[in-house]
Amino acid sequence: MTHAADPLSQPLALQCGQVLPNRLMRSALSEALGDRSSGAPTGKLLALYERWSLGGYGLVVTGNIMVDQRHRGEPGNVVVEDERHLPELSRWSKSFQDNTDAPLWAQINHPGRQAPTLINSAQPVAPSAVKANIAVIAGQPRELRPEEIEEILDRYATTAAVLETAGFNGVQLHAAHGYLITQFLSPLSNLRTDEWGGDSERRRRFLIEAVRRVRAKVSPSFGVGVKLNSADFQRGGFTEDESREVVRALADEAVDLVEISGGSYESPAMMGSAQAESTKAREAYFLDYAQTVREHAGSVPLAVTGGFRTKTAMAEAVASGACDIVGLGRPAITAPESGSALLQNTAQRLPSYQIQAGLRPVISKVTNVKQLDSMLDLQWHTQQMERIGRGKDPRLDRTWWQTMVKMLLTFGPAAFQRKRA
Ligand SMILES: Cc1cc2nc3c(=O)[nH]c(=O)nc-3n(C[C@H](O)[C@H](O)[C@H](O)COP(=O)(O)O)c2cc1C
Repeated sequence: MTHAADPLSQPLALQCGQVLPNRLMRSALSEALGDRSSGAPTGKLLALYERWSLGGYGLVVTGNIMVDQRHRGEPGNVVVEDERHLPELSRWSKSFQDNTDAPLWAQINHPGRQAPTLINSAQPVAPSAVKANIAVIAGQPRELRPEEIEEILDRYATTAAVLETAGFNGVQLHAAHGYLITQFLSPLSNLRTDEWGGDSERRRRFLIEAVRRVRAKVSPSFGVGVKLNSADFQRGGFTEDESREVVRALADEAVDLVEISGGSYESPAMMGSAQAESTKAREAYFLDYAQTVREHAGSVPLAVTGGFRTKTAMAEAVASGACDIVGLGRPAITAPESGSALLQNTAQRLPSYQIQAGLRPVISKVTNVKQLDSMLDLQWHTQQMERIGRGKDPRLDRTWWQTMVKMLLTFGPAAFQRKRA
């Protein structure tokens, strides 16, 4: 494929005026390299982004940044509640922007009921007091009061404004993977009958309101995007029809990009666990859905993330108009320079590592193996990011049980710190 004919090499202009130099997005990857107690970015995080700045991506979105220190999704999340970490945040954005014209967006998030009780002393909060079915991690949440909902919405806006001051080029609201915004969207977790629940329009109100409040606090040239689930892959949950309605509603807001993913930690479709073999063979997990949502998105560009591994599949997805941007997660960890490799045709297929637990007959007796697999897969990749942050290359022969031991060593002290707090 010649460079000129390569759909992935084409720039893309967003409504905010930013121009992405190509169609490859490094999707949000939670780095867990924030300071464990203060939530400030660390030197390792800066080193990791310096490496990714040379990766050739057209857009890079950071791992999810917490809007509330009391409710963290995992140990090592960066937290932005106010300007207290402004110097470190500014150094972080600069570590990336010094080497590339590609924009750097920050993903902002509240975990709601997916905040592990092991690491947070505050009780998790959620639209309704419905516990997530996630082994070990999820505790019993309490229902948010209306004034608390307002306060959280303002937090998204404040966090976005601070990130703009710190030099980031945009934010992406995390409305996927079972976190708070998804909890509002899903009828399984949102049983409210006030203005925040009761029907699909009121369930999506939290997301639309968060987008509006963020937009109102940042400049018009600052990017605002949303990562949305195609569905939550649970019976009685958020459906593709509802997701399409959300995309249609977002198209009326000043949104620059909608990224499609799916699933949650209860049903980890985003990591490829819910897909039929036929879909996996076609690589991209959510492309069929993206095709059906294209017209609802109007002029808002669509990104699709999950499963893309070969250049042929990525180029076809963009050339066919199914999506405008291809999102890459895990391959950008095992091969940090994936963007350049694809664009310069030095790689036609990205390396793919999907980690699974061994001893399955034994483990399946004590816990949900699919959830454990997705947790191990996440942790294996998280541990590789930490290596890159130390200036090393990923260690691809790391086994599932080494990953498990390190995971226990990570969560153990975090739980201990929580108890002391
Ligand atoms: C270690 C790790 C951390 C992740 N953190 C986030 C995150 O903070 N926010 C998010 O929206 N998705 C997150 N994801 C999901 C990815 O963005 C992506 O949707 C998923 O990995 C599927 O894409 P892939 O098949 O290209 O890896 C994470 C995935 C991994 C492996």
